[in-house]
Amino acid sequence: MDTREKTFISEDEMTRQEAFMHSVRELNPEGTKKYSINTYGCQMNENDSEKLAGMLEAMGYRQTDKLEDCDLILFNTCCVRENAELKVYGHLGSLKKLKECKPDMVIALCGCMMQQEDVVDHIIKKYRHVDLIFGTHNLHRFPELLYKALNSDKAVADVSSSEGFIAEGVPIRRENGVKAWLTIMYGCNNFCSYCIVPYVRGRERSRKEPDILDEARMLGHQGYKEITLLGQNVNSYGKELKDGSSFAGLLRSLESVEGVERIRFMTSHPKDLSDELILAMRDCKKVCEHLHLPVQAGSDAILKEMNRRYTRDHYFELVNRIREQIPDISLTTDIIVGYPGETDADFEQTLDLIKRVRFDYVYTFLYSRRTGTPAAKEEEQVSEEVMKKRFDALLELQNGIGREINDRMAGKVEEILVEGTSKNNINMLTGRTRTNKIVNFKGGADLIGRLASVRIDKVGTWSMEGSLEREV
Ligand code: SAH
Ligand code: SF4
Ligand code: F3S
Repeated sequence: MDTREKTFISEDEMTRQEAFMHSVRELNPEGTKKYSINTYGCQMNENDSEKLAGMLEAMGYRQTDKLEDCDLILFNTCCVRENAELKVYGHLGSLKKLKECKPDMVIALCGCMMQQEDVVDHIIKKYRHVDLIFGTHNLHRFPELLYKALNSDKAVADVSSSEGFIAEGVPIRRENGVKAWLTIMYGCNNFCSYCIVPYVRGRERSRKEPDILDEARMLGHQGYKEITLLGQNVNSYGKELKDGSSFAGLLRSLESVEGVERIRFMTSHPKDLSDELILAMRDCKKVCEHLHLPVQAGSDAILKEMNRRYTRDHYFELVNRIREQIPDISLTTDIIVGYPGETDADFEQTLDLIKRVRFDYVYTFLYSRRTGTPAAKEEEQVSEEVMKKRFDALLELQNGIGREINDRMAGKVEEILVEGTSKNNINMLTGRTRTNKIVNFKGGADLIGRLASVRIDKVGTWSMEGSLEREV
Protein backbone atom coordinates (compact mmCIF):
# COMPACT_ATOMS: atom_id res chain seq x y z
CA MET A 1 0.00 0.00 0.00
CA ASP A 2 1.33 3.46 -0.73
CA THR A 3 0.97 6.30 1.78
CA ARG A 4 -2.02 7.73 -0.04
CA GLU A 5 -4.02 4.53 0.41
CA LYS A 6 -3.02 4.23 4.04
CA THR A 7 -3.72 7.82 5.00
CA PHE A 8 -6.44 9.11 2.72
CA ILE A 9 -10.14 8.36 2.52
CA SER A 10 -10.96 6.79 -0.84
CA GLU A 11 -12.95 8.66 -3.47
CA ASP A 12 -15.57 5.87 -3.29
CA GLU A 13 -16.19 6.64 0.36
CA MET A 14 -16.52 10.36 -0.37
CA THR A 15 -19.01 9.53 -3.17
CA ARG A 16 -20.95 7.40 -0.67
CA GLN A 17 -21.14 10.37 1.70
CA GLU A 18 -22.35 12.59 -1.15
CA ALA A 19 -25.19 10.10 -1.69
CA PHE A 20 -26.12 10.43 2.00
CA MET A 21 -26.03 14.21 1.67
CA HIS A 22 -28.50 13.84 -1.16
CA SER A 23 -30.73 11.56 0.97
CA VAL A 24 -30.78 14.03 3.87
CA ARG A 25 -31.48 16.83 1.39
CA GLU A 26 -34.53 14.86 0.17
CA LEU A 27 -35.92 14.85 3.71
CA ASN A 28 -35.71 18.63 3.59
CA PRO A 29 -36.91 19.45 0.05
CA GLU A 30 -37.74 23.10 0.76
CA GLY A 31 -34.29 23.68 2.27
CA THR A 32 -35.91 25.34 5.29
CA LYS A 33 -34.28 23.39 8.13
CA LYS A 34 -32.09 25.41 10.46
CA TYR A 35 -28.92 24.61 12.36
CA SER A 36 -26.57 26.08 14.92
CA ILE A 37 -23.03 24.92 15.69
CA ASN A 38 -21.36 25.64 19.03
CA THR A 39 -17.61 25.35 18.76
CA TYR A 40 -15.27 24.96 21.72
CA GLY A 41 -11.48 24.69 21.75
CA CYS A 42 -8.81 25.53 19.22
CA GLN A 43 -8.67 26.78 15.65
CA MET A 44 -8.58 23.18 14.39
CA ASN A 45 -12.03 22.71 15.87
CA GLU A 46 -13.17 25.98 14.31
CA ASN A 47 -11.95 24.75 10.94
CA ASP A 48 -13.71 21.39 11.49
CA SER A 49 -16.91 23.27 12.33
CA GLU A 50 -16.62 25.13 9.03
CA LYS A 51 -16.58 21.73 7.31
CA LEU A 52 -19.61 20.56 9.31
CA ALA A 53 -21.38 23.80 8.33
CA GLY A 54 -20.39 23.19 4.70
CA MET A 55 -21.91 19.70 4.78
CA LEU A 56 -25.09 20.99 6.47
CA GLU A 57 -25.52 23.74 3.89
CA ALA A 58 -25.09 21.13 1.15
CA MET A 59 -27.91 19.19 2.84
CA GLY A 60 -30.19 22.24 2.65
CA TYR A 61 -29.80 23.43 6.24
CA ARG A 62 -29.40 27.14 6.99
CA GLN A 63 -27.51 28.69 9.89
CA THR A 64 -29.36 30.55 12.67
CA ASP A 65 -28.44 32.07 16.03
CA LYS A 66 -31.88 31.37 17.48
CA LEU A 67 -31.69 28.02 19.23
CA GLU A 68 -35.50 27.74 19.46
CA ASP A 69 -35.70 27.81 15.64
CA CYS A 70 -33.15 25.00 15.21
CA ASP A 71 -33.82 21.60 13.70
CA LEU A 72 -30.27 20.62 14.58
CA ILE A 73 -27.91 21.84 17.29
CA LEU A 74 -24.37 20.57 17.06
CA PHE A 75 -21.67 20.85 19.71
CA ASN A 76 -18.10 20.53 18.48
CA THR A 77 -16.36 19.86 21.78
CA CYS A 78 -12.91 20.28 23.35
CA CYS A 79 -11.40 18.46 26.31
CA VAL A 80 -7.97 20.10 26.64
CA ARG A 81 -8.91 21.53 30.06
CA GLU A 82 -11.70 20.61 32.45
CA ASN A 83 -13.52 23.94 32.09
CA ALA A 84 -13.97 23.30 28.34
CA GLU A 85 -15.85 20.11 29.22
CA LEU A 86 -17.90 21.75 31.99
CA LYS A 87 -19.10 24.39 29.54
CA VAL A 88 -20.41 21.69 27.20
CA TYR A 89 -22.24 19.86 30.00
CA GLY A 90 -23.78 23.13 31.20
CA HIS A 91 -24.98 24.13 27.77
CA LEU A 92 -26.24 20.63 27.01
CA GLY A 93 -28.25 20.49 30.25
CA SER A 94 -29.94 23.78 29.41
CA LEU A 95 -31.26 22.32 26.13
CA LYS A 96 -33.31 19.59 27.79
CA LYS A 97 -36.45 21.73 28.03
CA LEU A 98 -36.18 22.90 24.43
CA LYS A 99 -35.89 19.31 23.23
CA GLU A 100 -39.01 18.38 25.21
CA CYS A 101 -40.98 21.08 23.37
CA LYS A 102 -39.39 20.18 20.03
CA PRO A 103 -38.86 16.40 20.02
CA ASP A 104 -37.87 16.29 16.34
CA MET A 105 -34.91 18.54 16.91
CA VAL A 106 -31.58 16.72 16.58
CA ILE A 107 -28.98 17.36 19.29
CA ALA A 108 -25.57 16.19 18.14
CA LEU A 109 -22.14 16.10 19.78
CA CYS A 110 -18.79 15.65 18.11
CA GLY A 111 -15.13 16.58 18.56
CA CYS A 112 -12.36 15.77 20.99
CA MET A 113 -14.45 15.15 24.10
CA MET A 114 -16.31 12.40 22.26
CA GLN A 115 -13.09 10.46 21.68
CA GLN A 116 -13.13 9.53 25.38
CA GLU A 117 -15.16 6.37 26.05
CA ASP A 118 -16.15 7.28 29.61
CA VAL A 119 -17.50 10.64 28.43
CA VAL A 120 -19.62 9.00 25.73
CA ASP A 121 -20.98 6.43 28.23
CA HIS A 122 -21.81 9.20 30.68
CA ILE A 123 -23.63 11.27 28.04
CA ILE A 124 -25.64 8.33 26.75
CA LYS A 125 -26.75 7.48 30.30
CA LYS A 126 -27.34 10.95 31.70
CA TYR A 127 -28.24 13.14 28.75
CA ARG A 128 -31.00 11.21 27.07
CA HIS A 129 -31.94 14.14 24.85
CA VAL A 130 -28.77 13.63 22.78
CA ASP A 131 -29.48 12.02 19.37
CA LEU A 132 -26.10 11.74 17.70
CA ILE A 133 -22.49 11.35 18.84
CA PHE A 134 -19.40 11.10 16.65
CA GLY A 135 -15.70 11.80 17.09
CA THR A 136 -12.79 13.53 15.43
CA HIS A 137 -11.81 10.61 13.16
CA ASN A 138 -15.12 10.23 11.31
CA LEU A 139 -16.13 13.84 10.73
CA HIS A 140 -16.45 13.21 6.99
CA ARG A 141 -19.13 10.59 7.74
CA PHE A 142 -21.43 13.20 9.26
CA PRO A 143 -23.99 12.97 6.37
CA GLU A 144 -24.36 9.20 6.85
CA LEU A 145 -24.61 9.49 10.64
CA LEU A 146 -27.12 12.33 10.45
CA TYR A 147 -29.21 10.30 8.01
CA LYS A 148 -29.19 7.40 10.48
CA ALA A 149 -30.09 9.67 13.40
CA LEU A 150 -33.00 11.16 11.45
CA ASN A 151 -34.31 7.65 10.82
CA SER A 152 -33.87 6.20 14.29
CA ASP A 153 -35.65 6.55 17.64
CA LYS A 154 -32.48 5.70 19.52
CA ALA A 155 -29.31 7.74 19.90
CA VAL A 156 -26.71 7.02 17.20
CA ALA A 157 -23.14 6.88 18.51
CA ASP A 158 -20.24 6.20 16.19
CA VAL A 159 -16.88 7.03 17.64
CA SER A 160 -14.16 5.24 15.77
CA SER A 161 -11.10 4.66 17.87
CA SER A 162 -8.93 3.78 14.88
CA GLU A 163 -6.40 6.26 13.53
CA GLY A 164 -8.05 9.06 11.64
CA PHE A 165 -7.76 9.32 7.91
CA ILE A 166 -7.60 12.45 5.83
CA ALA A 167 -10.71 13.33 3.86
CA GLU A 168 -10.17 15.69 0.93
CA GLY A 169 -13.00 17.52 -0.81
CA VAL A 170 -15.38 17.97 2.15
CA PRO A 171 -17.58 21.02 1.47
CA ILE A 172 -16.75 24.00 3.64
CA ARG A 173 -18.50 27.19 4.70
CA ARG A 174 -16.01 29.62 6.21
CA GLU A 175 -17.01 32.02 8.96
CA ASN A 176 -14.80 34.89 7.86
CA GLY A 177 -14.49 36.32 4.34
CA VAL A 178 -11.05 37.91 4.76
CA LYS A 179 -8.93 35.35 6.56
CA ALA A 180 -9.16 31.59 6.36
CA TRP A 181 -8.02 28.63 8.45
CA LEU A 182 -6.26 25.95 6.44
CA THR A 183 -5.52 22.69 8.24
CA ILE A 184 -2.31 21.16 6.87
CA MET A 185 -1.95 18.22 9.25
CA TYR A 186 -3.90 16.34 11.87
CA GLY A 187 -2.96 14.69 15.17
CA CYS A 188 0.10 14.88 17.39
CA ASN A 189 2.99 12.54 18.21
CA ASN A 190 4.46 14.45 21.12
CA PHE A 191 2.65 13.18 24.19
CA CYS A 192 3.48 16.09 26.47
CA SER A 193 2.67 14.51 29.80
CA TYR A 194 -0.21 16.87 30.72
CA CYS A 195 -1.93 16.83 27.34
CA ILE A 196 -4.94 14.86 26.11
CA VAL A 197 -4.69 15.92 22.45
CA PRO A 198 -2.63 12.94 21.15
CA TYR A 199 -5.21 10.56 22.67
CA VAL A 200 -8.20 12.24 21.06
CA ARG A 201 -6.70 13.36 17.76
CA GLY A 202 -4.48 10.38 16.95
CA ARG A 203 -1.01 10.36 15.35
CA GLU A 204 0.39 12.97 12.99
CA ARG A 205 -0.95 12.82 9.44
CA SER A 206 -0.02 15.43 6.85
CA ARG A 207 -2.04 16.48 3.85
CA LYS A 208 -0.22 16.31 0.52
CA GLU A 209 1.37 19.55 -0.59
CA PRO A 210 -0.59 19.69 -3.91
CA ASP A 211 -3.90 19.38 -2.01
CA ILE A 212 -2.88 22.23 0.32
CA LEU A 213 -1.75 24.37 -2.61
CA ASP A 214 -5.04 23.75 -4.42
CA GLU A 215 -6.99 24.88 -1.38
CA ALA A 216 -4.79 27.95 -0.92
CA ARG A 217 -5.16 28.91 -4.61
CA MET A 218 -8.90 28.55 -4.35
CA LEU A 219 -8.88 30.79 -1.26
CA GLY A 220 -6.82 33.40 -3.09
CA HIS A 221 -9.22 33.20 -6.02
CA GLN A 222 -12.21 33.62 -3.67
CA GLY A 223 -10.73 36.84 -2.29
CA TYR A 224 -9.22 35.66 0.99
CA LYS A 225 -6.22 37.82 1.85
CA GLU A 226 -4.82 35.86 4.76
CA ILE A 227 -4.44 32.15 5.49
CA THR A 228 -3.43 30.56 8.77
CA LEU A 229 -1.94 27.10 8.41
CA LEU A 230 -3.04 24.83 11.24
CA GLY A 231 -1.53 21.79 12.91
CA GLN A 232 -0.69 20.76 16.48
CA ASN A 233 2.96 20.93 15.48
CA VAL A 234 3.34 22.39 12.00
CA ASN A 235 7.13 22.13 12.22
CA SER A 236 6.91 18.40 11.66
CA TYR A 237 4.64 18.80 8.62
CA GLY A 238 5.36 16.24 5.92
CA LYS A 239 7.82 14.10 7.85
CA GLU A 240 5.76 10.92 7.68
CA LEU A 241 4.93 11.42 3.99
CA LYS A 242 8.56 10.53 3.21
CA ASP A 243 8.44 12.38 -0.11
CA GLY A 244 10.76 15.23 0.83
CA SER A 245 7.92 17.48 2.03
CA SER A 246 8.77 19.89 4.84
CA PHE A 247 7.10 22.86 6.46
CA ALA A 248 9.79 25.23 5.21
CA GLY A 249 9.25 23.89 1.68
CA LEU A 250 5.50 24.32 2.01
CA LEU A 251 5.88 27.97 3.05
CA ARG A 252 8.11 28.64 0.05
CA SER A 253 5.54 27.03 -2.30
CA LEU A 254 2.65 28.98 -0.77
CA GLU A 255 4.52 32.26 -1.27
CA SER A 256 3.52 32.24 -4.95
CA VAL A 257 -0.22 31.78 -4.40
CA GLU A 258 -1.96 34.69 -6.08
CA GLY A 259 -4.34 36.85 -4.07
CA VAL A 260 -3.14 35.64 -0.67
CA GLU A 261 -1.17 38.51 0.91
CA ARG A 262 -0.45 37.12 4.35
CA ILE A 263 0.48 33.69 5.65
CA ARG A 264 0.41 32.73 9.32
CA PHE A 265 0.74 29.37 11.04
CA MET A 266 0.30 27.66 14.36
CA THR A 267 1.51 25.84 16.40
CA SER A 268 5.30 25.42 16.42
CA HIS A 269 6.97 23.06 18.87
CA PRO A 270 10.36 24.51 19.93
CA LYS A 271 12.10 21.14 19.62
CA ASP A 272 11.30 20.95 15.89
CA LEU A 273 11.87 24.52 14.74
CA SER A 274 14.66 24.21 12.19
CA ASP A 275 17.06 26.82 10.79
CA GLU A 276 15.65 25.98 7.39
CA LEU A 277 12.25 27.16 8.64
CA ILE A 278 13.66 30.38 10.14
CA LEU A 279 15.24 31.17 6.77
CA ALA A 280 11.99 30.41 4.93
CA MET A 281 10.15 32.77 7.29
CA ARG A 282 12.75 35.45 6.64
CA ASP A 283 12.69 35.02 2.86
CA CYS A 284 8.95 34.67 2.27
CA LYS A 285 7.49 38.15 2.14
CA LYS A 286 3.96 36.93 2.73
CA VAL A 287 4.84 35.08 5.93
CA CYS A 288 4.00 37.48 8.76
CA GLU A 289 6.47 38.55 11.43
CA HIS A 290 4.78 36.68 14.23
CA LEU A 291 5.61 33.35 15.83
CA HIS A 292 3.59 31.49 18.44
CA LEU A 293 6.16 29.34 20.20
CA PRO A 294 4.70 27.65 23.29
CA VAL A 295 7.31 27.25 26.02
CA GLN A 296 4.93 25.90 28.71
CA ALA A 297 7.39 26.37 31.61
CA GLY A 298 10.70 28.05 32.41
CA SER A 299 12.25 25.44 34.68
CA ASP A 300 14.30 22.60 33.21
CA ALA A 301 12.99 20.19 35.83
CA ILE A 302 9.36 20.92 34.89
CA LEU A 303 10.11 20.91 31.15
CA LYS A 304 11.58 17.44 31.62
CA GLU A 305 8.57 16.24 33.59
CA MET A 306 6.34 17.67 30.87
CA ASN A 307 8.22 15.63 28.26
CA ARG A 308 8.80 18.75 26.17
CA ARG A 309 12.27 17.57 25.08
CA TYR A 310 14.06 20.94 25.21
CA THR A 311 15.71 23.02 27.93
CA ARG A 312 15.33 26.68 28.77
CA ASP A 313 18.77 27.33 27.26
CA HIS A 314 17.68 25.69 24.03
CA TYR A 315 14.65 27.98 24.01
CA PHE A 316 16.76 31.12 24.61
CA GLU A 317 19.14 30.11 21.87
CA LEU A 318 16.27 29.45 19.48
CA VAL A 319 14.72 32.87 20.20
CA ASN A 320 18.12 34.49 19.55
CA ARG A 321 18.50 32.72 16.22
CA ILE A 322 14.99 33.78 15.16
CA ARG A 323 15.56 37.42 16.19
CA GLU A 324 18.89 37.51 14.36
CA GLN A 325 17.09 36.74 11.09
CA ILE A 326 13.78 38.53 11.76
CA PRO A 327 14.56 41.34 14.23
CA ASP A 328 11.04 42.78 14.53
CA ILE A 329 9.24 39.48 14.97
CA SER A 330 6.50 39.40 17.56
CA LEU A 331 6.66 36.38 19.83
CA THR A 332 3.78 34.82 21.73
CA THR A 333 3.71 31.73 23.90
CA ASP A 334 1.60 29.37 26.04
CA ILE A 335 2.46 28.76 29.68
CA ILE A 336 0.92 26.30 32.12
CA VAL A 337 1.11 27.26 35.79
CA GLY A 338 0.82 24.70 38.56
CA TYR A 339 2.07 21.60 36.77
CA PRO A 340 2.28 18.78 39.41
CA GLY A 341 5.36 19.27 41.59
CA GLU A 342 6.02 22.86 40.39
CA THR A 343 7.81 24.60 43.29
CA ASP A 344 8.15 28.32 43.98
CA ALA A 345 11.69 28.08 42.62
CA ASP A 346 10.44 26.44 39.40
CA PHE A 347 7.86 29.16 39.00
CA GLU A 348 10.53 31.85 39.54
CA GLN A 349 12.35 30.32 36.58
CA THR A 350 9.22 30.79 34.47
CA LEU A 351 9.01 34.47 35.49
CA ASP A 352 12.71 34.84 34.73
CA LEU A 353 12.24 33.32 31.28
CA ILE A 354 9.40 35.75 30.57
CA LYS A 355 11.61 38.70 31.61
CA ARG A 356 14.45 37.53 29.43
CA VAL A 357 12.50 36.65 26.29
CA ARG A 358 10.04 39.56 26.49
CA PHE A 359 7.04 38.04 24.72
CA ASP A 360 4.47 40.25 23.06
CA TYR A 361 1.72 38.14 24.60
CA VAL A 362 1.47 35.10 26.86
CA TYR A 363 -1.53 32.76 26.94
CA THR A 364 -1.53 31.46 30.52
CA PHE A 365 -3.39 28.33 31.62
CA LEU A 366 -4.01 26.83 35.04
CA TYR A 367 -2.90 23.21 34.92
CA SER A 368 -5.91 20.94 34.52
CA ARG A 369 -5.70 17.25 35.40
CA ARG A 370 -6.70 15.12 32.41
CA THR A 371 -7.54 11.48 33.06
CA GLY A 372 -5.41 9.15 30.98
CA THR A 373 -2.38 11.43 30.77
CA PRO A 374 0.82 10.57 32.71
CA ALA A 375 0.68 13.85 34.71
CA ALA A 376 -2.73 12.95 36.12
CA LYS A 377 -1.07 10.15 38.10
CA GLU A 378 1.42 12.50 39.79
CA GLU A 379 0.78 12.78 43.51
CA GLU A 380 2.11 16.25 44.13
CA GLN A 381 -0.71 18.27 42.57
CA VAL A 382 -0.35 22.02 43.22
CA SER A 383 -3.21 23.55 45.24
CA GLU A 384 -5.66 25.79 43.46
CA GLU A 385 -4.78 28.70 45.71
CA VAL A 386 -1.06 28.53 44.85
CA MET A 387 -1.87 28.10 41.17
CA LYS A 388 -4.06 31.21 41.13
CA LYS A 389 -1.43 33.27 42.95
CA ARG A 390 1.17 32.25 40.37
CA PHE A 391 -1.26 32.94 37.56
CA ASP A 392 -1.84 36.51 38.82
CA ALA A 393 1.89 37.16 39.31
CA LEU A 394 2.59 36.00 35.78
CA LEU A 395 -0.17 38.13 34.33
CA GLU A 396 1.03 41.25 36.12
CA LEU A 397 4.59 40.78 34.91
CA GLN A 398 3.52 40.07 31.33
CA ASN A 399 1.02 42.93 31.12
CA GLY A 400 3.84 45.34 31.93
CA ILE A 401 6.17 43.84 29.32
CA GLY A 402 3.45 43.66 26.66
CA ARG A 403 2.53 47.28 27.29
CA GLU A 404 6.16 48.43 26.98
CA ILE A 405 6.55 46.58 23.67
CA ASN A 406 3.31 48.05 22.32
CA ASP A 407 4.20 51.57 23.51
CA ARG A 408 7.13 51.54 21.13
CA MET A 409 4.70 51.26 18.22
CA ALA A 410 3.11 54.67 18.88
CA GLY A 411 3.61 57.02 15.93
CA LYS A 412 4.63 54.24 13.54
CA VAL A 413 2.79 53.47 10.31
CA GLU A 414 1.68 49.85 10.07
CA GLU A 415 0.18 47.72 7.32
CA ILE A 416 -3.28 46.62 8.50
CA LEU A 417 -5.45 43.94 6.94
CA VAL A 418 -8.94 45.31 7.52
CA GLU A 419 -11.20 42.57 8.85
CA GLY A 420 -14.47 44.41 9.52
CA THR A 421 -16.07 46.89 11.87
CA SER A 422 -14.99 46.93 15.51
CA LYS A 423 -17.20 44.91 17.89
CA ASN A 424 -17.21 47.68 20.48
CA ASN A 425 -17.69 50.61 18.13
CA ILE A 426 -19.39 50.10 14.78
CA ASN A 427 -18.04 53.45 13.56
CA MET A 428 -14.51 52.07 13.64
CA LEU A 429 -12.81 49.56 11.37
CA THR A 430 -10.70 46.83 12.89
CA GLY A 431 -7.77 44.85 11.59
CA ARG A 432 -4.39 43.44 12.48
CA THR A 433 -0.78 44.36 11.92
CA ARG A 434 1.52 41.76 10.39
CA THR A 435 2.71 41.17 13.97
CA ASN A 436 -0.89 40.23 14.86
CA LYS A 437 -1.83 43.28 16.96
CA ILE A 438 -5.37 44.59 16.79
CA VAL A 439 -5.71 48.16 15.50
CA ASN A 440 -9.00 50.10 15.32
CA PHE A 441 -9.33 53.19 13.11
CA LYS A 442 -11.87 55.29 11.23
CA GLY A 443 -12.43 54.50 7.56
CA GLY A 444 -14.99 53.53 4.93
CA ALA A 445 -16.50 50.03 4.78
CA ASP A 446 -15.02 49.69 1.28
CA LEU A 447 -11.67 49.07 3.00
CA ILE A 448 -12.88 45.78 4.53
CA GLY A 449 -10.88 42.92 3.08
CA ARG A 450 -8.08 45.25 1.94
CA LEU A 451 -4.69 46.35 3.19
CA ALA A 452 -4.33 49.87 4.57
CA SER A 453 -1.49 51.95 6.01
CA VAL A 454 -2.48 53.15 9.46
CA ARG A 455 -0.59 55.41 11.85
CA ILE A 456 -0.73 54.19 15.45
CA ASP A 457 -2.00 57.05 17.64
CA LYS A 458 -2.93 55.42 20.92
CA VAL A 459 -1.62 52.22 22.46
CA GLY A 460 -3.51 50.00 24.91
CA THR A 461 -2.75 46.63 26.45
CA TRP A 462 -5.17 44.72 24.20
CA SER A 463 -5.65 46.89 21.14
CA MET A 464 -4.49 50.13 19.56
CA GLU A 465 -6.12 53.08 17.88
CA GLY A 466 -4.84 54.61 14.69
CA SER A 467 -5.66 56.87 11.77
CA LEU A 468 -5.70 55.99 8.09
CA GLU A 469 -2.65 57.18 6.14
CA ARG A 470 -3.56 55.60 2.81
CA GLU A 471 -4.92 52.51 1.11
CA VAL A 472 -2.32 50.05 -0.10
N1 SAH B 1 -0.14 21.73 20.00
C1 SAH B 1 -0.09 22.98 20.58
C2 SAH B 1 -1.28 23.39 21.43
C3 SAH B 1 -2.06 22.39 22.15
S1 SAH B 1 -3.29 22.83 23.29
C4 SAH B 1 1.23 23.06 21.34
O1 SAH B 1 1.90 22.12 21.54
O2 SAH B 1 1.57 24.14 21.72
C5 SAH B 1 -3.02 24.53 23.63
C6 SAH B 1 -2.41 24.82 24.94
O3 SAH B 1 -3.20 24.32 25.99
C7 SAH B 1 -1.05 24.17 25.18
O4 SAH B 1 -0.03 24.86 24.57
C8 SAH B 1 -0.95 24.17 26.68
O5 SAH B 1 -0.36 25.36 27.13
C9 SAH B 1 -2.40 24.13 27.13
N2 SAH B 1 -2.73 22.85 27.76
C10 SAH B 1 -2.70 21.63 27.20
N3 SAH B 1 -3.04 20.69 28.11
C11 SAH B 1 -3.29 21.35 29.27
C12 SAH B 1 -3.66 20.95 30.58
N4 SAH B 1 -3.85 19.68 30.89
N5 SAH B 1 -3.83 21.90 31.52
C13 SAH B 1 -3.63 23.21 31.23
N6 SAH B 1 -3.27 23.64 30.02
C14 SAH B 1 -3.09 22.73 29.04
FE1 SF4 C 1 -0.40 18.56 23.35
FE2 SF4 C 1 2.22 18.65 23.35
FE3 SF4 C 1 0.93 17.72 21.21
FE4 SF4 C 1 0.85 20.29 21.80
S1 SF4 C 1 2.67 19.14 21.22
S2 SF4 C 1 -0.88 18.99 21.22
S3 SF4 C 1 0.84 20.32 24.00
S4 SF4 C 1 0.99 16.78 23.22
FE1 F3S D 1 -9.38 21.12 22.37
FE2 F3S D 1 -9.22 19.18 20.64
FE3 F3S D 1 -8.25 21.54 20.04
S1 F3S D 1 -8.93 18.99 22.82
S2 F3S D 1 -7.63 22.35 22.00
S3 F3S D 1 -10.36 21.09 20.40
S4 F3S D 1 -7.43 19.57 19.43
